Amino acid sequence: MLLKLLAVGDVVGEGGQDILSRRLRGLREDTGAHFTVVNGENASGVGVTPAQARRMLEAGADVITLGNHTWNRIQIGDYLDKEPRILRPANYAGRVPGRGMGVYSCQGLRIAVLNLMGRLELNSNLDSPFKSADWLLNRGSYDLAVVDFHAEATSEKGAMAWYLDGRAAALWGTHTHVPTADCQILPKGTGFVTDLGMTGPRRSVLGIKPEHSINLFLGGLPRRYEEAEGNCKLNACLFTIDTEKKKCVAVSRADIEE
Ligand SMILES: [Fe+2]
Ligand SMILES: [Fe+2]
Repeated sequence: MLLKLLAVGDVVGEGGQDILSRRLRGLREDTGAHFTVVNGENASGVGVTPAQARRMLEAGADVITLGNHTWNRIQIGDYLDKEPRILRPANYAGRVPGRGMGVYSCQGLRIAVLNLMGRLELNSNLDSPFKSADWLLNRGSYDLAVVDFHAEATSEKGAMAWYLDGRAAALWGTHTHVPTADCQILPKGTGFVTDLGMTGPRRSVLGIKPEHSINLFLGGLPRRYEEAEGNCKLNACLFTIDTEKKKCVAVSRADIEE
């Protein structure tokens, strides 16, 4: 059987949530996707509240993954413990709420979704994502594993994909908010793209008002980032997985522009 998995890039602000609510179910139908994973770390701009997480689940996300902004809306902590359909990076060091891997049933299969975060250029207290991946994938009980690797550096994302080649059916990068054109299948069957991109305002710097980003680079006082206005896009990739061979057989972009 072929299982189609849709992975959606970081949902930014009200605009991102709005396009997700209006378009995700249609995109699932058009692509024939059985299972959808949405990165939600920017639903509040930085962070996500329980209400925003519920809205993304209602929009059609089967699982929400997060990243370096997980704790910017600290009220998410209790929700991470209570709601099994939302994950935070598995390799946070120390004692933090929530979980970094979940196993979900879909089409009679147990799909493990793993959320990891890179260490290059991300200033967080993290264990090695490579060792965390080993530990979790070796101990979990599942039929297929897929990974959202939230990382800044393209090198770290590529290295992780090759490290997990044959162990994960799909691995996609998130965090940079810029879609990459390198959809590929690695030799042992892992479908890979370096970054999904984002779901949010098109005319922006990574989703925020350009003048706010420019101000920071000119040395201006830091100010609260505001989401840009105007039409939005939805960046996503579709992975087609042969469930008997546990290998990816096709990867393609599945973006929407409004
Ligand atoms: Fe991020
Ligand atoms: Fe992000």
